[in-house]
Parts: sequence; C-alpha cells; structure tokens
Amino acid sequence: MCGIIGYVGSKAAVPILLGGLKRLEYRGYDSAGLALPQTDTMLAIKAVGKVSKLIEATRQHPNTALAESSTSGIAHTRWATHGAPTESNAHPHFDKSQRLALVHNGIIENYRSLRQKLIALGHEFKSDTDTEVLARLIGEYYQGDLRLAVASALRQVEGAYGIAVMSANQPGEIIVARKGSPLVLGIGEHGCLVASDTAALVAHTQQVIYLDDGDLAKITATSIDITDLNQTPIDRSIKQLEPDAGAIEKGGYEHFMLKEIFDQPEAITNTLRGRLDLAQGKSILAGMGTSTRDLAEIRRIVMVGCGTSLHAAMVGEFAFEDLADLHAEVQQAAEFRYRNPLIDAQDLVIAISQSGETADTLAAVREAKEKGALVLGLVNVVGSTIARETGRGVYLHAGPEISVASTKGFTTQVTALLLMALKLARGRRMSQERGEALAKSLAQLPDLIRSVLAQNDAIAQVAQHLVGQEHIFYLGRGPFHPVALEGALKLKEISYLHAEGYHAAELKHGPIALLTPGTPVVVLAPESPVRDKVWSNAEECRARGAKIIAVVTEGTEAPGATAVLTIPACEPLIATIPATIALQLLAYHVARLQQCPIDQPRNLAKSVTVE
Ligand code: G6P
Repeated sequence: MCGIIGYVGSKAAVPILLGGLKRLEYRGYDSAGLALPQTDTMLAIKAVGKVSKLIEATRQHPNTALAESSTSGIAHTRWATHGAPTESNAHPHFDKSQRLALVHNGIIENYRSLRQKLIALGHEFKSDTDTEVLARLIGEYYQGDLRLAVASALRQVEGAYGIAVMSANQPGEIIVARKGSPLVLGIGEHGCLVASDTAALVAHTQQVIYLDDGDLAKITATSIDITDLNQTPIDRSIKQLEPDAGAIEKGGYEHFMLKEIFDQPEAITNTLRGRLDLAQGKSILAGMGTSTRDLAEIRRIVMVGCGTSLHAAMVGEFAFEDLADLHAEVQQAAEFRYRNPLIDAQDLVIAISQSGETADTLAAVREAKEKGALVLGLVNVVGSTIARETGRGVYLHAGPEISVASTKGFTTQVTALLLMALKLARGRRMSQERGEALAKSLAQLPDLIRSVLAQNDAIAQVAQHLVGQEHIFYLGRGPFHPVALEGALKLKEISYLHAEGYHAAELKHGPIALLTPGTPVVVLAPESPVRDKVWSNAEECRARGAKIIAVVTEGTEAPGATAVLTIPACEPLIATIPATIALQLLAYHVARLQQCPIDQPRNLAKSVTVE
C-alpha cells in the first residue's frame, strides 16, 4: 500500500528519498513521486510504475542540478484508490500556488464535499484524488505558518491520513500528521526523517519515534516538535529499532518470497525461543500479561484478521477447541464492527496481523476494547499500531516479511496460536503428559519444516501440472481446511491462476461441476482421524478425470495420485505448518513457470491501511 518518506537535513535529499521508496516497494504500489523545495516553488518528479522509473525520470530531469542540491524533500509510492495510476494522480499533490506539496496515505472520506467547496473558491483540480483536495485545503489556510495551516485543514477532514507536507517558503521543515495511517519519525546524525514504516529508515538511523493518532509534528534537521491539532505539546519516547529491521536483502535467493519460505525454520525457532517449557509441558508467554485468574475467566476466544492472517485464525480455532476445550471462533475483521459483535469482558479477542497495520483489524481491536473484552495482538512488526494499541500479546519474531504474499507470517502465526492454546490448555484440563508431548512436537517444528524444504526440486516438477490451468482446487478438512484456503490464496496471489480452497466434503455440493478431465485438485490428506473421508473425496474427483496432487504423511499411500508431496509424521495441528509450506513452494514454482512478478503481484499491497 502507499508509502511515505521525507527527509530534512544536511545531506542530498534525492538519494535518501529514492532509497527509502525502494525499501517501501514491498508494500505494493503503482506509481511514485517526489517533491523538493526550490526558491519559490516545489519541484515535482513523478512516474507511473516502479520506483526504477522514478529514478530514471529524476536522472533525466532538466533541473537535475537543482534536484541534486536539495537537502530536504518528501516522496511517495501510491497504491491507487481514487483515480487510476497515472502521473497526474501520483503524489505529491500541490496547493493552488504550487508552493505547498503533500504526500498522503489513507483516504479522505469527505473529499467530495470539500472538493465542491474548493471549486466554488476557484480551484481547478488536476487529479482525481482525495489527496489533492487536502493539499489545496491546506493552501487555503496557509498564511506563513505551515503547521497552523495543516492543523486547520485537518479539522475539516473525515477519514484516515498519514501525511507529510512541505512549503517552498520553509524548505527546512516538514509537517507531518497521523490519524489511522502509520507514521514513524527517524532521528539521524545528519537530519530527521519521516516514513510510513521503519523499512525506509533503517539505513539511516536506529532511533525512531512512533506517532499516534491525532499527532501533528514539525521536523527540522535538528528538532522534532510534536503537538496535537490544538498545539498542545505531546511527549513521545524515542525507541530503538530492532537490529533485524534492516535484514531485508534477498540473501542469494531469486525472490524475497523464496527466501522467506526458506527462512521458516529459523523464523519459527525465533517464535518459539524461550517460550517452551519442555519439562513442564507448558508455554511461557509473558507478553500476554494475563494472570491465571484472567485466563480462568475466559469463556470464549474470538480471533479477527484479514487475508492470510484470517486463515491462521481458522487453524487457531481448532487449536483452542481441541487443546484447551475453549469455545473459539473466527470473525473477518472487516465485518466485525459492522455486525454488532456480541463481545463482553469474558471474551478474549486476538487480533492477528503480520504488519500490525491492517485498517480493518485495527478497527476491530478498537471495537473489542470498547466492548470491554481482553484484547491481545498477534503481530510481527514491533511497534506497529496494533501492537501498541493492544499493549499486550505475542510478537511473532518472524523477521521482516517483504514479499507481498505472506509465508513465514502465516506459519509463525499458527505457531504462536499453538503456544497460546498450550498455555490456556495447561491452565485448564490438559494433563502434563499431553502438554509435554505437544511442547516436544512444537520444538521439532523447525526440523519438520526442513524436510519439506528439502523437496523443493521435486515440488518444482509437480508445479508443471498446474501451469496454465483454468481452475485448480485445494481440498482439506479439519485444520487442513484453512490450509487448503491458504494454499489456493498463495497460488491466486502470485500466479494469477484461478484457484479455490474448499472444505473437502463441500466440493460435491457445487464446485464439482467445474471439474473436467485434467483439472488439478490438490488434496490435503495427511494422517488425521478424517483422512479416509478426505481420500474418498479425492476419489470422487479422480472418477471425473481430475488430476490429484496429494499432500500426505511420509510412508502413507495416495493411490491413483498424479503427484505426491509428503510431510513428516506429526499430529494434525502441527502438520498444518509443513503442509502449508509444501503449498507455498508449489505456488512459488507455478508463478515462476508462469513468469509472474512474484514479490510484488499486480494490484496487491503488503499492508492494507484503508477499509
Ligand atoms: C494484505 C496482504 C496479505 C495479508 C493481509 C493481512 O492483503 O497482501 O498478504 O494477509 O493484508 O495483513 P496483516 O498484515 O494484517 O496480516
């Protein structure tokens, strides 16, 4: 989704801005631009497509010398919401005088009425965006004090924003503000920065300040001054970035996605580190900050999330019910606040989000807190909004996930949910013996995963069966049903092939009509109490000419299957993780054979910060 970087200091701004945009590329975007203060105007350079196009456009700009001498500026990658991805819609946007430039993440919801008012005042809009409305509105209020003008304009605005604004009159300051869209300030040795996430800052500083909703800040080369919209000073502490926030190189892999798939033994080791008590068969999750009494009082668990995180929640549902005898349910975060959720103080709401910034999940957190529930976050990005607003929970420690399609995000989420389920289960009815067995299996996960990764070449061969197919089905049941959904989602996201995940028993209630001879059906049939039933469903497909790609436990049969992927023997809840990894590799190789841009698929964003 959209990315922001701004810099004011003593060094040349352009390389810092372009480098920052490169680091934000993983978020997904379709145009980019930057603005630099000149004597009495803002110089703008924009390009449709990748940041590399903007780099080229900057290099070829007639005013290159001026651009190179600037020591401040703002830049943006745009993921289109209002208006097509064109140069005129790309940020920065300007006020009437062209002296004021704005980059914006989020959506101004009342932009139509504001636009009408501005048109009545003689404004002629150059773009279709909601952002230009805000830029022009700030210009209307500007009388020499940019911070005051921004505050006045923002009081008129409904919706979400993370913004950075500059005026050619004050080239040494950037005004930034946040409501609903993340912004973080960086304190560097040679100046200050602002960005929509820390990935754009790590090359310059480890010292950051996370802004909260309602914050308005003025940054200069040597100072940061934070207030609210009414000029009341606000004190925000300086945080130290995690050292691995900078670990975003491909490390010899062709794509970030492949690297992140192969990162999983280590990522899961990090999720588990210090959290398993093998001798007592327990898990230690201090970040949950819950007393034994809190835990005993929980009557129900409600998990909220979007996309891949929603699928992790669905595995969690089985874990909490099977292991902890706790009623658990999953709600789509986008729906949560619009459906009168019946939540009270005895509910534990777990917000699951790799980025910690997904707008719908964040809104669900706020709703659940308002209803008095105990709310925990299951988040990867340290210091993200959901992590801060929940205040407690479990960090995934998966390391940065750059590929838009989530891989280690999912498997570390499932691992963390299993740890949570073990904690709750041991506080209830689970015996120590059972707890010990489960803790031991969790500790073995990195090795189980390695044995799937070792099949990478074989999986690349199997991928050929899926290339160019019109429909592909993924079937599973129990905890393997969400694995089927996740496997199909991975394939759709990165290969653009039509894939559907289905509950194995549901296929015959409709989708089976789509099977024709040769249709690939990926069947998740590892050892489980319902494995034979799943295999019967596979036979129903095979009888109609489908090609069965089976995922089974090592040493078990898959009669009549066209291809077989194996996972090591382990109990079903744990097996969801190696099974998912086999499907991640399958999707990756299909997308590679289809020559797709794997790390940044079209139309997708890494973190969706709009509703
Ligand atoms: C976007 C990403 C997905 C991700 C979803 C939820 O749609 O493309 O990969 O699963 O957001 O993101 P979160 O950061 O909340 O887990």
